[in-house]
Amino acid sequence: MEAVNSSSSISELDDISRLLDRPRLNIERKRSFDERSFSEMGIFEPVNSPGDRSRCETPASSSSRNSFEPHPMLAEAWDALRRSLVYFRGQPVGTIAAYDHASEEVLNYDQVFVRDFVPSALAFLMNGEPDIVKNFLLKTIQIQGREKKIDRFKLGEGAMPASFKILHDPIKKTDTVIADFGESAIGRVAPVDSGFWWIILLRAYTKSTGDTSLADTSECQKGMRLILSLCLSEGFDTFPTLLCADGCSMVDRRMGVYGYPIEIQALFFMALRSAMSMLKHDTEGKEFMERIVKRLHALSFHMRSYFWLDFQQLNDIYRYKTEEYSHTAVNKFNVIPDSIPEWVFDFMPLRGGYFIGNVSPARMDFRWFALGNCVAILGSLATPEQSAAIMDLIEERWEELVGEMPVKICHPAIESHEWRIVTGCDPKNTRWSYHNGGSWPVLLWLLTAACIKTGRPQIAKRAIDLTEARLLKDGWPEYYDGRSGRFIGKQARKFQTWSIAGYLVAKMLLEDPSHLGMISLEEDKQIKPVIKRSYSWTC
Ligand code: GLC
Repeated sequence: MEAVNSSSSISELDDISRLLDRPRLNIERKRSFDERSFSEMGIFEPVNSPGDRSRCETPASSSSRNSFEPHPMLAEAWDALRRSLVYFRGQPVGTIAAYDHASEEVLNYDQVFVRDFVPSALAFLMNGEPDIVKNFLLKTIQIQGREKKIDRFKLGEGAMPASFKILHDPIKKTDTVIADFGESAIGRVAPVDSGFWWIILLRAYTKSTGDTSLADTSECQKGMRLILSLCLSEGFDTFPTLLCADGCSMVDRRMGVYGYPIEIQALFFMALRSAMSMLKHDTEGKEFMERIVKRLHALSFHMRSYFWLDFQQLNDIYRYKTEEYSHTAVNKFNVIPDSIPEWVFDFMPLRGGYFIGNVSPARMDFRWFALGNCVAILGSLATPEQSAAIMDLIEERWEELVGEMPVKICHPAIESHEWRIVTGCDPKNTRWSYHNGGSWPVLLWLLTAACIKTGRPQIAKRAIDLTEARLLKDGWPEYYDGRSGRFIGKQARKFQTWSIAGYLVAKMLLEDPSHLGMISLEEDKQIKPVIKRSYSWTC
């Protein structure tokens, strides 16, 4: 599984000719990406070559080939990432969550988490090593096919695991897969995001390799349809958003993200669009495509209208009347203006905006969540104007949203009485720690991808510089604590794989922005633009 190793014996010319020989398959180049800003920043020209990428592994050999000196952290990161590989019958199938020998409690950090593997997978794809990603996609879809039960309750067929591990029996020489669908996870939380990440990753694999044969297999087609059946099924819903319990995604503890969390809605939207591009046009596939088109249409309208918050919108909500009945209601969810938290009035800049954390009857969770907003940009759930506004907000509120260690998972933290009620007195999620306003290095790759998509690579560069000042020295922590993310997290694991992979992906994206195509979707012109609520109440 070693990458093509560049050595000083391979001349730069050889690398270039290899590069030219290799057809670059299907990678879309971002139109909005501003190449000039890269040269202005002194970042060298993007090159799409596996040889170029392999410089990451052998930094010493690169000096003779390019004036650009790879950061010494890159080689360390690749070594650490490779140490986290997990094998099934000799084949790599994933990476463990953390390779932290110092930690007393392993809990489930020795498992391959679906969400955690995504940045690892992207790093391997960008490095020209797609096999591990293919193995992972096939292994997890096999796991989906098992019967899943929690106590006496049978889970939906399409449910994907949160994580799995491989048990090696050295005597019998057998490998066994043990999966967790939430039945062992702390709090028995349901990993709603796993299926969406799986679909998004299948598209990334297909885009990056140009190999459609994996997505076309009956296993992958069926796996996709099962995931889609779960999230497109009809129920009692009055909204197109997906109703979830607390702890259903990266924030996998009680944190008041139940209802319609932005993270899930953004992943749902992106997964639906990704599936559209991979479903076969056979009878079953077409039936799902029709349902997807309808859902996307309703979902984008709902999200762009009701989850979007900027200065104007905040002012409108502040002046809302309540108890309105019928279709003419302006305050459709009957949000009481007194429930708007004080902090948001100071936080909201004149320039900028974001998708808020949650919207449901009489409830708007005004917290900022980084993952949901970045994925909204990548999947084009956000319109180009909204995407630009999200980036404006990040710039305007840098201290709060990035601080000293990129990137804050959410802002602000909840504390005191609210913390007691909302988290159930969770000692791991005290204010400005872990999921409650902690800073997660893994989110760097998402921020970088969003920056590149919106043509703001300078922002990513600034965030990466912050990371490079500390991450390796601190031993690749899982998260940082404190209002500005200055302290290594109270219970943070070291050598957390997605912190390592997130850094690698961010670096590779900035170095070669054409990689963006595998995790970004262009705006869908079929989806009608939203008519601003302030002006039209009838649609
Ligand atoms: C924690 C995180 C979760 C992650 C897991 C493994 O539970 O909250 O998002 O997947 O650790 O790293």
